[in-house]
Amino acid sequence: MSKNVIVISSSPRAGGNSDTMCDEFVNGALDADNAVVKYFLEDIRFHACKACYKCKTPEKKCFQEDGLAEVLEKMLEADVIVYATPVYYFSMCGTLKRFFDRCYPIFRDLENKDYYIITSAGSTNGNVLQGIRDFISFSKNPTEKAVFSAFGDVKSQPELLKEIYEAGFHC
Ligand SMILES: Cc1cc2nc3c(=O)[nH]c(=O)nc-3n(C[C@H](O)[C@H](O)[C@H](O)COP(=O)(O)O)c2cc1C
Repeated sequence: MSKNVIVISSSPRAGGNSDTMCDEFVNGALDADNAVVKYFLEDIRFHACKACYKCKTPEKKCFQEDGLAEVLEKMLEADVIVYATPVYYFSMCGTLKRFFDRCYPIFRDLENKDYYIITSAGSTNGNVLQGIRDFISFSKNPTEKAVFSAFGDVKSQPELLKEIYEAGFHC
């Protein structure tokens, strides 16, 4: 059955390691006839969460109109969500954290999603998974399907890329 798949690529490096891993997942998911949308966050100029709590009023919307509303809508509709980040100081990159902060209108409304996590590091992952898993844990009935971690240049790791393609194909 065709699924709605959303891929959040948070590295500032288009075509870099984690972004390349995202593309492999996308290719696999598309080849299996899923509906796939990938967002490269660096292309979306968005502001930080202002912690105004307007999104906690019945309207449930962020007052900032800067391109993220569509992404949040797609997340709610998705069956499969992929979060990808480079490892910065043993943690997720600031762009992904800022994005998670802006998910405040919907983070508890995400329900029955399958999750994949993609990370890329020079050599050490540190605690990168912790914050991502913590964010996911706020959603309802989440399933972590797989984690893919690359160290160094992922383009020279065809087996890992194939594994990611397969995961996308069978997601
Ligand atoms: C600000 C910054 C912090 C980094 N911190 C780490 C780190 O803690 N551990 C590590 O192994 N690599 C670290 N790196 C290296 C990147 O994680 C690595 O180059 C990664 O492959 C980049 O992924 P990308 O190509 O998807 O952007 C850091 C790089 C930058 C720019």
